[in-house]
Amino acid sequence: MSDNKRRVDPVTGTETTGHSWDGIEELNNPLPRWWLWTFYGTVVFSVIYVVLYPAIPLLNSATGGALGWSTRGDVAAAIAEVDASQADMRASLVETDLAAIDKNEALFSFATNAGGAIFRTNCSQCHGSGAAGALGYPNLLDDEWLWGGTIEDIAFTIRHGIRNEVDPDARYSQMPAFGDMLEDDQIATLVTHVQSLPGGADPLSGPGGELFEMNCAACHGANAKGDRTLGAPNLTDAIWLYGSSDEQLTEVISRGPFGVMPPWGGRLSEAEVRAVATYVHGLGGGEPQVGENTIPEGAGATDAAPSDPDEGPFEEDAPQE
Ligand code: HEC
Ligand code: HEC
Repeated sequence: MSDNKRRVDPVTGTETTGHSWDGIEELNNPLPRWWLWTFYGTVVFSVIYVVLYPAIPLLNSATGGALGWSTRGDVAAAIAEVDASQADMRASLVETDLAAIDKNEALFSFATNAGGAIFRTNCSQCHGSGAAGALGYPNLLDDEWLWGGTIEDIAFTIRHGIRNEVDPDARYSQMPAFGDMLEDDQIATLVTHVQSLPGGADPLSGPGGELFEMNCAACHGANAKGDRTLGAPNLTDAIWLYGSSDEQLTEVISRGPFGVMPPWGGRLSEAEVRAVATYVHGLGGGEPQVGENTIPEGAGATDAAPSDPDEGPFEEDAPQE
């Protein structure tokens, strides 16, 4: 393997490298041209690349490159682009009359999608991820509204909340605790009376009706169909926010329920409030549906269909106020 073994191969006329393995010798051919030029090309390319792009790692960063390009910058630009494209949508969401949002298909679908995401983040812990509610937290899918089901009503409820101490415009009302005012047997009579209402009983007849007229009709109405200006629920529709068992109704009438919802006006932007209102309105504004699935405790209520078809549970659903 030393130079003294170098010689010219007689068959090809090419010099050998002088390496020999078991008599097999290596010819000293030059590298192919194409290979060499490719190699020189990559060297030139790498020098240009190092100058133009981030390349050499430093302690905390890397050389920036003459073009100032970075993957992070690319992502930021893409985000800014999406932001800018949505800025128009957000602006028109704020400018458009709430009731007219669904007339603009693109705006409506933007609002519904954004509203769904906002709902899942901010509202689902109380109202359920599917908005079906729970005991004390109203179902937002059905056509039964405590405070009104127009998109304006819903947006107001979301913006200011209900019975909270934070927003002076919060929807407010308070059912008295009748445990302090009525005897136990009177409350028991009222419980039975209230349970009979979805079955079509006359709210004002019988001993229960007398008590109802004196103590309850002012808020729940002489027809017991509730009052949206007070958030007083319809008691004839077999949809119970707080349950319909003897114990639950005794508790409700004795202590007075006090459902609180926080205001979102300060926490969400105006566009976000409108988006989530559009989303909620889209959930419940549709067809009347049978509300059995909204009854947390079915006792005595599920089978109580209204006797008069004209007095169906959803009769009152026309937007009020
Ligand atoms: C901390 C629990 C809580 C959170 C969070 C919450 N809500 Fe509520 N929400 C309530 C309660 C309780 C009521 C019922 C108050 C009552 O009894 O009148 C209510 C009522 C409502 C109503 C009125 C329903 C009707 O029948 O009139 C709407 C609409 C509503 N919530 C939407 C939302 C939206 C949208 C969000 C999210 C931005 C949200 N809520 C977040 C607790 C909550
Ligand atoms: C000052 C108005 C007011 C009066 C008077 C009043 N209520 Fe209420 N009632 C309400 C409001 C408001 C609610 C809803 C509270 C909430 O959502 O937290 C309610 C809720 C209820 C509920 C719960 C309904 C459900 O869906 O779970 C029942 C039952 C009820 N009231 C029965 C009565 C009876 C019986 C009387 C008479 C003894 C009465 N109320 C008197 C305002 C009133």
